[in-house]
Amino acid sequence: METRPGEAIARGDGETGREVPGNRRGDRLADAPLVARDRASLAAARAALPSPVGLVPTMGALHAGHVALIDRARSECASVVVSIFVNPTQFGPGEDFERYPRAFEADLAVCESRGVDVAFAPTIEAIYPPGHSTVVDPGPLARVLEGAVRPGHFRGVATVVTILLGLVRPDRAYFGQKDGQQTVVIRHVVRDLGLPVALSIVPTVREPDGLALSSRNAYLTPPERAAAPVLSRALRAAADEHARGERDADRLRRRMREILAEAPMGVPDYVSVADAETLGELDVIEGPALLSLAVRFPSARLIDCWPIG
Ligand code: PAJ
Repeated sequence: METRPGEAIARGDGETGREVPGNRRGDRLADAPLVARDRASLAAARAALPSPVGLVPTMGALHAGHVALIDRARSECASVVVSIFVNPTQFGPGEDFERYPRAFEADLAVCESRGVDVAFAPTIEAIYPPGHSTVVDPGPLARVLEGAVRPGHFRGVATVVTILLGLVRPDRAYFGQKDGQQTVVIRHVVRDLGLPVALSIVPTVREPDGLALSSRNAYLTPPERAAAPVLSRALRAAADEHARGERDADRLRRRMREILAEAPMGVPDYVSVADAETLGELDVIEGPALLSLAVRFPSARLIDCWPIG
């Protein structure tokens, strides 16, 4: 295939090809997504995409939860960009950045099967060029719950998402309800900075036994995997009590802790009943709230949440 100097757009099958004029889903040569690894090739690919453009930011190791986001984007947008980038700045010291699962070829196959137009799999330098020093600090929302246990995590998330939105310039971006606090933080950043993007939040995809799909589930040993549905059982029980009229947040926290205690190999980091917008802990539930919890198993730390009200 002919190539032009300086052109860095590669097809998902690994061939390097120049962009076909008028190239877009439907009339390009192959159905594999275009793969962009640097800012210039992303800009070239982006320029050829019909609007509206949807962005699904991911860290790869794509599973059915990610696919739900991609499918939603595909159904609402003329073009779909999936970013695949294991973002170092959202991992703390001693966290799992090095061992985080990476499965680029399989991810590309998933993108191809769901009709993704562009897979943006940037190098570190494409996101954080040499001398990069600008960060997005979301403030107090980033310091509670996950942020209290993982200091700096949401600064890393907010920074990378802001960069991705700036580079891809999507009309709409897709995030999973699974990471409830992340959706609250990103909404806040988009509003505070006036970023011109609409957000869609997609319901959590679960295994048949209730465990929320997560790339980190792969770390669980068989006994831990057997115990892991305790998170969704606890959330469901509290949501049921709320549906039956319980408005005392402490009763719901106690109910969740009772159920989590049935799986002693998992140690809770937090069990929360918080305002859905401010994430402040509630005494009485009067409006939309978020039930959330984090549990540390020996091989993996799991989080889950459940919006109520
Ligand atoms: P990652 O963990 O790869 O998740 C990418 C997106 O998929 C997130 O919006 C997440 O909430 C969503 N997701 C994960 N599991 C899901 C499930 N079981 N059901 C529905 N959606 C699910 O979240 C991140 O990456 C990163 O923080 C990122 C936003 C990409 C920034 O680096």
